[in-house]
Amino acid sequence: MSEAAPVRHFPVVLEGQPALVTGANSGIGKAVALGMAASGADVVVNYVVDPAAAEEVAHGIEACGRRAMTIKADVSDEDRVKAMFAQAIGHFGTLHILVNNAGLQRDAAFHEMTLAQWKKVIGVNLTGQFLCAREAVREFKKRGVVDQISAAAGKLVFMSSVHQEIPWAGHVNYASSKGGVMQLMRSIAQEVAPLAIRANGVGPGAIRTPINRPAWETPKAYGRLMSLVPYKRIGEPDDIAQAVAWLASDAADYVTGATLFIDGGMSLYPGFATGG
Ligand code: BGC
Repeated sequence: MSEAAPVRHFPVVLEGQPALVTGANSGIGKAVALGMAASGADVVVNYVVDPAAAEEVAHGIEACGRRAMTIKADVSDEDRVKAMFAQAIGHFGTLHILVNNAGLQRDAAFHEMTLAQWKKVIGVNLTGQFLCAREAVREFKKRGVVDQISAAAGKLVFMSSVHQEIPWAGHVNYASSKGGVMQLMRSIAQEVAPLAIRANGVGPGAIRTPINRPAWETPKAYGRLMSLVPYKRIGEPDDIAQAVAWLASDAADYVTGATLFIDGGMSLYPGFATGG
């Protein structure tokens, strides 16, 4: 099994730009929240379960010399989302960056999938991204561009997946939610571009996090996973955090409506490397 990648350098390009990261107490969200702080942003750490883990991320942000706050909110709940944005904006004065990261899986064979499993995944992964993006856009639109801070009035980053493209048997709720995230992101990007708001997606492949532990935790599973990854290593959460920090920065000021796949080539149809 490959070793965890070394901690990478984050250019300090997000100073003065408070960021809200949903689902920031573990996995990709945690790395993104810490990456935002390493890039100079103050960060709101949203979570639903495990407040101790959220506090630990907040301490990590403070160790970077940035301000942090934790807010418990289920992103699929409209009232809770509104209250979270009001609290975050009240605390930091405004927000410049939203990372719509919170997501989950409830896997089942299609003929056995319950409506509850379908609704849970669509609720958090898709409706949650809609609700948070809407609140963020309202704030970005109200404030407008502040030249000394950023060329854009605000930046939205949507956590999607390779499964916005790759069908996934046994996970139709998840793949449907991520296909939806792609069109949600692209349609918002088109609509808000004239307001100098950018929206982009990130499409992770297999990243070493709790959501897919069974896919990497044993050497046998890891070997099987590698048959789907031409680059022959699992992704680390920092691989994603680096890309999110860049997309949120003015270095990416002409990038909107794009999905950046970060997957070691998983979306390159690896089966065709030797066939076809
Ligand atoms: C899923 C993981 C999976 C990966 C690649 C991600 O979006 O959450 O469970 O390992 O896609 O299939």
